[in-house]
Amino acid sequence: MEKLLRKFFLFLSNNKFFTKLAKKYGLRFGASRFVAGETIEQAADAIRKLNQKGLVVTLDHLGEFVNDEQEARERTEECVKAIKVIADENLDSQLSLKMTSMGLDISRDLVMENMRKILDAGQEHGVFVTIDMEDYERSEATLDIFEELKQEYEGLGTVLQSYLYRTEEDLERLDSYNPNLRLVKGAYKESPQVAYPDKKDVDENYKNIIKIHLLNGNYTAIATHDDAMIDYTKKLVKEHGISNDQFEFQMLYGIRTELQEQLVKEGYTMRVYVPYGKDWFGYNMRRLAERPANVAFVLKGIIKK
Ligand code: FDA
Repeated sequence: MEKLLRKFFLFLSNNKFFTKLAKKYGLRFGASRFVAGETIEQAADAIRKLNQKGLVVTLDHLGEFVNDEQEARERTEECVKAIKVIADENLDSQLSLKMTSMGLDISRDLVMENMRKILDAGQEHGVFVTIDMEDYERSEATLDIFEELKQEYEGLGTVLQSYLYRTEEDLERLDSYNPNLRLVKGAYKESPQVAYPDKKDVDENYKNIIKIHLLNGNYTAIATHDDAMIDYTKKLVKEHGISNDQFEFQMLYGIRTELQEQLVKEGYTMRVYVPYGKDWFGYNMRRLAERPANVAFVLKGIIKK
């Protein structure tokens, strides 16, 4: 049953009709549990509150799979604006983005132009930018662009997913850049031809890539809500004498908030991924796919309306 629900929510997550409808009707159906608001002002308020608790942030203007050039340019401007707000308001926050929002599916020239605008702003204001990793179909293009831009911009990172067979090789490929990488298990619906179908293999590979990246001496963001992976990391760093400033934990806004604060109390850097904007549908459906138990929150949201 859980597997079926997972498939259903992943199917919904890239359904264009529902995405459009959701944009039109605004944040509802429990979406505000995972999304900090529709505007940058609301997001800035949320960041301030998190910062006051000792949590640092990476801010994400929601959006993906854009096929219209004008829209990709507008989303680029929104990222530039977000960087300025972070700097002007002295918020402790980085920026995360999805390149399909910046024109990855439209043309290489467009996405490069847009990425450079964002990275110029990031460089000017000292705001680190992470390129989120999207589905397998886009992973090669994403890494290729990351490598090109990393030679021009210091403050740039990306994400690798442990569910893909290719990831260990990608980790080796990127090692020469000493990259700051976020490591995740992976959130998209992928075929067994390219991704481990069994969760236990995904978990094993997750531990494997955490170990490789940390022992290679690179800054590592362990982005998971899984106690087993967090405990594994704590033990590993202790065993190898790796200091707390070589890694951080990351979690999503609204998920396991007590654990987030607990990790800060234990002296770890804890970064919260804070999404905002109107394009919340796909993001939220992926959260439901990860944990169908969250459907209860959605149902409560519907009943409250
Ligand atoms: P997993 O889903 O394997 O669950 C393991 C255990 O963790 C559960 O049994 C439970 O105990 C606990 N848990 C998990 N979710 C919970 C919840 N909602 N509430 C309570 N407990 C929960 N993916 C991607 O493909 N590209 C990307 O760029 C990113 N970026 C990203 C940034 C950040 C900051 C995070 C935290 C995650 C991502 N992801 C991502 C998503 C990631 O790939 C993955 O889908 C989710 O983090 C879910 O996997 P977990 O490792 O958290 O736990």
